[in-house]
Amino acid sequence: MRLDKFLCDTVGVTRKQATYLLKEKRVTVEGEIVKSGALKIAEDANVEFDGMALRLSGPRYYMMNKPEGYVCSHEDAHNPTVFILFDEVGAEKLHIAGRLDCDTTGLLLLTDDGQWSHRVTSPKHKCDKTYRVWLEDAVSDETADLFAEGVQLRGEKAETLPAQMEKVDEKEVLLTIHEGKYHQVKRMFASVGNKVVGLHRESVGELVLDEALEPGEYRSLTEDEIALFMPKK
Ligand code: URA
Repeated sequence: MRLDKFLCDTVGVTRKQATYLLKEKRVTVEGEIVKSGALKIAEDANVEFDGMALRLSGPRYYMMNKPEGYVCSHEDAHNPTVFILFDEVGAEKLHIAGRLDCDTTGLLLLTDDGQWSHRVTSPKHKCDKTYRVWLEDAVSDETADLFAEGVQLRGEKAETLPAQMEKVDEKEVLLTIHEGKYHQVKRMFASVGNKVVGLHRESVGELVLDEALEPGEYRSLTEDEIALFMPKK
């Protein structure tokens, strides 16, 4: 397709405005500045506008290594939001599949595909989430058994679903839960008299945080990673 048409469809500008952006040298194709809107490009060409990658509409899926101190919402009066870390046109159309608290770090999934995020978060799908947890006090020997049976959280009708805990160190564990109640991990440890001082999500289902991502970095999911949460054929 023509580059100016591609810009109209992805940036949401008119043909005239696209011509102007090109003249201003704000658009690159495969890393090279291009000024002609007539250039024919492939639909999956690597086109950037002001350094931001452009993609034709279609679902988008990302993983981010969420840094501490960022909130999982589009707006917040007190803290920066994870969306300001996104250098993508149309970032405001993305939503989070499974929020993390402001002080929690690690694997965050973002998409504009509502059905996909429903499969990640819906209690019906009981998607495992594994967290590395750092605690204020040494973990007692009974904690793993209590979590495997289910604990009663304040204000909840039912006990938590059986969760698996593996001790890494006196004050560090890996905890896998199969639901996503509000502040679940912190409340589970509070229910056994301990306190979470650090929390990092390592995986959701079979999708593991890419170790190459520094805090605040993100990347698109691969086809195989996206398929992990698609109905099996
Ligand atoms: N459980 C919590 O308590 N906080 C999170 O951010 C995620 C799980």
